[in-house]
Amino acid sequence: MEVRGKVVVVTGGALGIGRALCRRFALEGARAIVVADIHEAGAKAVAEEVQGQAVICDVRREGDIVRLVRFAEETFGAVDYFCSNAGILITGGVEVADRDWNRIWETNVLSHIYAARAVIPGMIQRGGGVFMITASAAGLLSQIGSAPYSVTKHAAVGLAENMDITYAEQGIKVFALCPQAVSTEMTRNGGGVAAVGVAAVDGMMPPEQLADAVIEGFKREEFLILPHPEVLTFFQRKANDYERWLRGMRRLRDKVMSSGA
Ligand SMILES: NC(=O)c1ccc[n+]([C@@H]2O[C@H](COP(=O)([O-])OP(=O)(O)OC[C@H]3O[C@@H](n4cnc5c(N)ncnc54)[C@H](O)[C@@H]3O)[C@@H](O)[C@H]2O)c1
Repeated sequence: MEVRGKVVVVTGGALGIGRALCRRFALEGARAIVVADIHEAGAKAVAEEVQGQAVICDVRREGDIVRLVRFAEETFGAVDYFCSNAGILITGGVEVADRDWNRIWETNVLSHIYAARAVIPGMIQRGGGVFMITASAAGLLSQIGSAPYSVTKHAAVGLAENMDITYAEQGIKVFALCPQAVSTEMTRNGGGVAAVGVAAVDGMMPPEQLADAVIEGFKREEFLILPHPEVLTFFQRKANDYERWLRGMRRLRDKVMSSGA
C-alpha cells in the first residue's frame, strides 16, 4: 500500500502528528495533499510547504467534513487516503464538565464517524481506499489522569475495528494508529502534566519518527499501527491477565501522581 500518486486528506494537519504526516506524504510522492484544520495559518503554512491545499475545517461539524471531502473529490477526482487525525486531550476524571465531555466526544469520536460517512461511499464506488484513525495507545490501554481521553480513544479504536470488519470486503483498508507519547503541541501545552508524564514514561517520540512508522504500517497492511512496539506487549499483558494489568496500572498511577510528573 503506497502513498505515491495518491490523493491524501489529513485532518489536524497544521501541527504535530498531522503536519509530520503531510510532510512525509509529500516526500513519498503523494499526488495531492489536503491539509485540513481549524488552525488557519498553520494549515496554510503546511499546505504551502507540501504544495498542497489548505481547507479550514472544524472536525466537530459534519457540514465542514462534507465540504472538505467534496472539495478534495471535485478538485482532484478522488480521496484515496483519509487520515482522520485531529484530536484533543482533556485531563480529569468523571467530574469533568459535560460541555468538555461533549467537546472531546465530538472531536475524538464523532469526527471519525462524520468522515467515514462522507468519504467511504466514494471510495467503495472507486474500488477502494484507505481510512486511518489516529487513536492512541490510550485506546488499547488507558490514559492515567484522563478519563475523557481514555474513553474517547477506546471508542475510536472500537469504531476502526467495526469499520474494518464492515468494509474490508469492499476494498477499504482501515488502520488504527495507536502511539504513546509523541512530542507535539498536545504534549507540550496540551492539558495535563500528569497525563502526559505517564505517556512519556517510555520516552517522547519525534513526530517524524512516527511518520516513518505510519509508512511502514501502510506497507505491512496490518490494522494496528504501533509506532511504539512495546504497546503490543502491554496490550497482550492486559488481555492475558486483566487483574494483574490493573494492579500494575494502579501502581503506575500512584507513582506518577505522587511525583507530580
Ligand atoms: N502527541 C501525542 O503524544 C499523541 C499520542 C497518541 C495519540 N495522539 C493523537 O494524535 C492526534 C494528533 O495529535 P497531536 O499530538 O499532533 O496534537 P496537536 O495538538 O499537536 O495537533 C492537533 C491538531 O489538530 C487540530 N485540531 C484540534 N481540534 C480540531 C478541530 N475541531 N477541527 C480541526 N482541527 C482540529 C489542531 O488545530 C492541531 O493542528 C490526536 O488525535 C491525538 O489524540 C497524540
